[in-house]
Amino acid sequence: MNDRDVRVYEVGPRDGLQNEATPIPTQAKLRFIGLLADAGLREIEATSFVSPRAIPQLADADDLMASLERREGVRHPVLVPNRRGLERAEAAGVDAIAVFTAASEPFTRANINMSIAESIDAFRPVIQHARDHGWWTRGYVSTAFGCPYQGEVDEAAVVGVAGELLELGIDELSVGDTIGVAGPSDVRRVVGALTASGIGVERLAMHFHDTRGTALANVATALELGVRCFDASTGGTGGCPYAPGAAGNLATEDLVYLLDREGLSHGIDLDALLVAAAHVAETLGRPLGTKVGQAGGWRVP
Ligand code: COA
Ligand code: ZN
Repeated sequence: MNDRDVRVYEVGPRDGLQNEATPIPTQAKLRFIGLLADAGLREIEATSFVSPRAIPQLADADDLMASLERREGVRHPVLVPNRRGLERAEAAGVDAIAVFTAASEPFTRANINMSIAESIDAFRPVIQHARDHGWWTRGYVSTAFGCPYQGEVDEAAVVGVAGELLELGIDELSVGDTIGVAGPSDVRRVVGALTASGIGVERLAMHFHDTRGTALANVATALELGVRCFDASTGGTGGCPYAPGAAGNLATEDLVYLLDREGLSHGIDLDALLVAAAHVAETLGRPLGTKVGQAGGWRVP
């Protein structure tokens, strides 16, 4: 990858839809994923193999993955919290998984009913199995910039859990502002601590929520620090049911517009992406609040 290339990792079908009150038919999710691939997205997180009681919105994961059209060059990672999730994912024929923990104990307990240390132990055999099969793997560190239960999170806690996840052999680490509280100086502080600990910036992805309108400022800062992978959700939906107050992910359309203005390449067609965003709005039966979704791209007269 060249320094002007940015990977956009789409989380709309998973992070985006997991918090929606409206039940969404599997067919509508499949169409959404298809439209995202049509728009040029090459990494589309499809769903989670978690407890259907924890996330009822993604209870159709097995059916969804069985019907999903695999396209050449498109990766469809799924979230896996434990061995049971791994078995389901394997039966569904996945070749990319993400495990997820956090930098704060109370959130980790609320979200996956484990301590951070227990989560690392639970992931060890999961990641080992994935690596034995040549799958791509990612680890999430949620609440890296703030926790809904604990408040501020020390960057040392982020560095600690990041190091343990990387030691398991994951390919990529996604550092999450789960409740959307960070500003640019927090990004400098946390990314700086991670890289100072010896983690290469090319291993990092940033996962911003736009709860308080700071997501794009944080992306711009992370770009300056050398980060070249960003998570985003088309339509700006999203949030974790175990993170009270978490609002939407950074919208993919807002991210793509910024990347275009910065002259960075990403392979995504903004107009086609807006078609996928319109499909989300139609499925949810409400207009979406994303900036570029409302204004469109800039058509120079
Ligand atoms: N897929 C399906 N069902 C699962 C499962 C999985 N991966 N893991 C556990 N279960 C089921 C068990 O079979 C059990 O069902 P039963 O009560 O009908 O027997 C039940 O869930 C509880 O299992 P247990 O092992 O005791 O798990 P837990 O209650 O401690 O919950 C998790 C742990 C990780 C399974 C659960 O908290 C979870 O799925 N969290 C995901 C949260 C999430 O996705 N958040 C958003 C992403 S940030
Ligand atoms: Zn998120």
